[in-house]
Amino acid sequence: MPVKIAPSILSADFSRLGAEIEAIEAAGADLIHVDVMDGHFVPNITIGPAVVKALRPHTKKPFDVHLMISPVDPYLEAFADAGADGLTVHPEAGPNIHRSLQQIRKLGKKAGVVLNPGTPIDALDNLMELVDLILIMSVNPGFGGQSFIESQLKKIEGARKRIDATGRDIALEVDGGITPDTAKRAIAAGATVLVAGTAVFQGGPRQYAANIAALRG
Ligand code: DX5
Ligand code: ZN
Repeated sequence: MPVKIAPSILSADFSRLGAEIEAIEAAGADLIHVDVMDGHFVPNITIGPAVVKALRPHTKKPFDVHLMISPVDPYLEAFADAGADGLTVHPEAGPNIHRSLQQIRKLGKKAGVVLNPGTPIDALDNLMELVDLILIMSVNPGFGGQSFIESQLKKIEGARKRIDATGRDIALEVDGGITPDTAKRAIAAGATVLVAGTAVFQGGPRQYAANIAALRG
């Protein structure tokens, strides 16, 4: 299966997000990665459900919504209603990750769990049957444009093994510092979805197709 590319709109031109999403879809994006930040769980503030809802009509591609907010549970329904296809949550963002994942499934959405660079892989224990996606952060969450943290390649390999052991089709996504070079290594470690902000949006709309193609290797 070819790797999927999920451009992070964090690096898009926020004054014209609808057009940016249309441009990345036309350029070959498989998913639209939406980074939601609250200035509390991570030191940056981005967008809320109203923006997700406003963007929904601009593309048919799935919205992969990465929630970096705490508490997270009170907002799952709002993002689901706004048009998210998948909701991904950090174990540190609520008192009960198992319940958060159950709630996402109950809302009829794909449930994702995300591990920060400092979060051990064992955080996946007891969650495998509840997830449709595992996201490995290869930078600390909060900002685009950071460098890929090499130690996370081992975690991607570990997650790959755990997924294979389930026999289920769980997506393995990597987020942060993805370039054509780190993309290759993340894919070799077992990633099936790559999130990229800087590497997709650099150079402006005329570059998007080439930028996305370069990440596929
Ligand atoms: C970081 C976000 C990432 C980020 C990736 O908190 O989760 O999605 O936008 O940006 P790049 O690709 O520039 O590292
Ligand atoms: Zn993200």
